[in-house]
Amino acid sequence: MAISIKSSKEITKMREAGRLAAEVLEMIKKHVVPNVNTDTLDRLCHHYITKKQNAISACLGYRGYPKSVCISINDVVCHGIPSQNDILKDGDIVNIDVTVLKNNYHGDTSAMFFVGQPTVQGEKLCRITQNSLYLAIQLIKPGIRLRTIGIEIQKFIEKQNYSVVREYCGHGIGKGFHEEPQILHYDADDGGIVLKKGMTFTIEPMINAGKCGVYTLKDGWTVKTQDSSLSAQYEHTVVITNNGCEVLTLRKNEIIPQILTHE
Ligand code: MF3
Ligand code: CO
Ligand code: CO
Repeated sequence: MAISIKSSKEITKMREAGRLAAEVLEMIKKHVVPNVNTDTLDRLCHHYITKKQNAISACLGYRGYPKSVCISINDVVCHGIPSQNDILKDGDIVNIDVTVLKNNYHGDTSAMFFVGQPTVQGEKLCRITQNSLYLAIQLIKPGIRLRTIGIEIQKFIEKQNYSVVREYCGHGIGKGFHEEPQILHYDADDGGIVLKKGMTFTIEPMINAGKCGVYTLKDGWTVKTQDSSLSAQYEHTVVITNNGCEVLTLRKNEIIPQILTHE
């Protein structure tokens, strides 16, 4: 029921789990090229997590999920199941979502990758989606309403004539993969929750180039846009600090700082 506040010892472990999750994305980037199939990418991530990082994929076996990462191409919104039949082609936009479990703590992150040369629309959707995550990260600190996150992301996204997917949200994270609270990416009742130092959660907006409607395939996982428009998502795990937040899953090529402070 209550939102857990992590101790500094726990945050140290969250920092490691977050770093490992980020390093999986850094590792896989150069493999995301035309003609590779998404099962091959899954195998590379799985090997890296289990053999190099001595960690566990939290996705594998989660509610029966059959693979180690989620790989979602073009109009797939999330939870794409890696498959030898899904072969990347020039111009695709691809989300890879990695959740590692290390020393009993989770790190959860995802990013978009361009296969070969991106289209103008694909590049723009990804850039705006990442910027919506960054603007949320840049405003969070103790004392603000949880609701502010969704309000600001939605305002920014709808100004671009894109839409925010409603069915999936960010989440508290720690020993649990999905803890309270839910982090909505649009304006909705937040039950009066105010952010506090030591809260750890993900922000992971799913943004459609067209309308916000989505549906799930018969495989029980793959989520697609109803109107076949492109969809993008970026996800970070963050911890609220004294005066801002720390991004636990930051990659080296990102432009925001790891630690964001306010006054
Ligand atoms: N990583 C996803 C999230 O951001 C959850 C994937 S669950 C899986 O919350 F089972 F599909 F892997
Ligand atoms: Co998540
Ligand atoms: Co994730």
